[in-house]
Amino acid sequence: MENVKVGIVGLGRLGKVHAKNLANLVPNCELYAACSLVEKERKFAKEKLNVTLTYDSYEDMVKDPNIDAVFIVSPSGFHCQQIKLAMENGKHVFSEKPLGLDVEEIKETQKIIQEHPDQIFMLGFMRRFDESYRYAKEMVNKGALGEITLIRCYGIDPSDGLESFVKFAMNNNSGGLFLDMSIHDIDLIRWLSGKEISKVWAIGKNTAYPQLDEVGELETGAALLRLSDNSMAILVAGRNARHGYHVETEIIGTKGMLRVAQIPEKNLVTVMNDDGVIRPCSQNFPERFRQAFVDEAKEFINCILENRQPEITAFDGLQSTKVALACQESFEKDELVEVNNNDSK
Ligand SMILES: NC(=O)c1ccc[n+]([C@@H]2O[C@H](COP(=O)([O-])OP(=O)(O)OC[C@H]3O[C@@H](n4cnc5c(N)ncnc54)[C@H](O)[C@@H]3O)[C@@H](O)[C@H]2O)c1
Repeated sequence: MENVKVGIVGLGRLGKVHAKNLANLVPNCELYAACSLVEKERKFAKEKLNVTLTYDSYEDMVKDPNIDAVFIVSPSGFHCQQIKLAMENGKHVFSEKPLGLDVEEIKETQKIIQEHPDQIFMLGFMRRFDESYRYAKEMVNKGALGEITLIRCYGIDPSDGLESFVKFAMNNNSGGLFLDMSIHDIDLIRWLSGKEISKVWAIGKNTAYPQLDEVGELETGAALLRLSDNSMAILVAGRNARHGYHVETEIIGTKGMLRVAQIPEKNLVTVMNDDGVIRPCSQNFPERFRQAFVDEAKEFINCILENRQPEITAFDGLQSTKVALACQESFEKDELVEVNNNDSK
């Protein structure tokens, strides 16, 4: 196979980012087809990205024999059924996070993926491709921090994305703050520590944006997590960062600690003027993780060409979703929730 022919489903907030990357920045990849329910988005794919075919039905696109792989960037509730259809039609599959919204459906999807070992499956935990997180992981693996005792994570979306999020949440089930936002942090905690999460206690509050109550969403949430070896993690997730897109991680170990993006800097510029000393902040996920999105897509295409499965598996999707759902349950029931860690890889 010279070029991997990809069909993308979903050309919304993130779909456009992936589509542009696949069309322009990923070697050995041809963005051949694109599917969206929105005509304007299909027109964008045809005119700006030169895709050969556009579809308004995923079921039709996935049957196209010219397509080698699908890139799933549709709302989270569709991921499992779209993965299943792609697997059954012989396609390699990249799916955005979360793998799904329902644990039983995810387990069935994991089984279907495992029944097709010759087809590549990858889940979009792009932070694992970010240069700073890779460096942090290298430090942890080298033992530079000793044994990890606590990981603290902030994942807070900018306030100016709130209006579009409320629209998204009205039309689609995001799965709630912990499944939609903290899932990246939960994956990082599992990846960095190599441990599973056994218990969670979550709380949350809506203050600035009562419209979030109307769509059953949280503005700010926090959770305490206990890992299988009694080490700890703290999650803070939100949708109301006034200064931009705030993703920060701290790892505390027995021999030291490190922080990733203590100040979520936009670049290396410091502005000194009448307002004081200002470090501009990254404003959204496409900006902060620009290169990570490109690198994860490159890895997916390379896995197909080299016939090897990626590091991130359906099991990672299952485990992270279980923890996120446990946080949501803990918040709703106002009690400590235990996570079942008996599922097999
Ligand atoms: N990795 C990240 O940091 C990150 C960031 C944002 C979103 N996401 C994930 O990406 C996914 C998409 O999020 P978004 O914000 O881009 O959504 P969005 O609402 O902006 O776009 C959704 C797209 O899916 C299409 N679509 C909806 N239902 C469809 C169906 N039944 N068949 C075919 N196409 C359909 C729509 O036409 C639209 O193009 C979600 O699962 C979300 O969790 C991940």
